[in-house]
Amino acid sequence: MELEQAIFTRRSIRKYNDTPVDRETIEKIIEAGAWAPSACNVQGWRFIVIDEKKVLNEICENGAAAFLKNVNQAIAVIYDNRTDNVEYNDYIQSASACIENMLLMAHSLNVGACWINFLPTKKKLRKILDVPPYYDPIAIISIGYYNQKINERARKFKMNELIYYNRFTGSENNVKGNFKLKIRRIARKCYMLMPVGLKKRVQKILNKNEKKFDN
Ligand SMILES: Cc1cc2nc3c(=O)[nH]c(=O)nc-3n(C[C@H](O)[C@H](O)[C@H](O)COP(=O)(O)O)c2cc1C
Repeated sequence: MELEQAIFTRRSIRKYNDTPVDRETIEKIIEAGAWAPSACNVQGWRFIVIDEKKVLNEICENGAAAFLKNVNQAIAVIYDNRTDNVEYNDYIQSASACIENMLLMAHSLNVGACWINFLPTKKKLRKILDVPPYYDPIAIISIGYYNQKINERARKFKMNELIYYNRFTGSENNVKGNFKLKIRRIARKCYMLMPVGLKKRVQKILNKNEKKFDN
């Protein structure tokens, strides 16, 4: 698949069939990640391939995107957090470049994938995956083959709404939105801090109302 086609047709795929993605293909996806640029060329990404249902279930139980409970394979991306460029969170930027490469490679191999960061707290995820303190869990990428047709993604903004020259000349200032955001942040924190039992009950409600991001 040509790069341009891969970029313009990639979508997040959240529903997979039962055909497993073999290790060779998974490693090809990971290799694409490992060719991404990284701050100071640290290449501090590490990948934990998760194919045990028990591990995936534990992640779900502790609060994660609802669709993950039907996923059989995923790749956790962790990144070396020993950076001095805290101002720009450069390790997160490097890991993100890596993840996008992985998504594009997965797409070009006809493997469906979705970038997930609705996940348990980093502390909890660290414990589940045995991640040492000098790596941060960044995201989990669910993977699998799929049957559905991929819809084209609707762009939310026109090009002239995205680009400024020399300085930002936009007029976006949504004070009301900021208040809602504060409430959402508090709600997310409360959810993450809930014990598993209570979380399960809340999950039932959340699963019914899970956001659909198809467009
Ligand atoms: C940083 C990041 C975190 C994301 N986390 C989630 C997630 O937790 N659950 C989910 O279903 N999708 C998640 N997504 C996928 C987005 O919802 C998706 O990229 C977006 O809706 C655009 O759709 P597309 O990928 O099909 O173009 C995430 C994407 C990014 C970049």
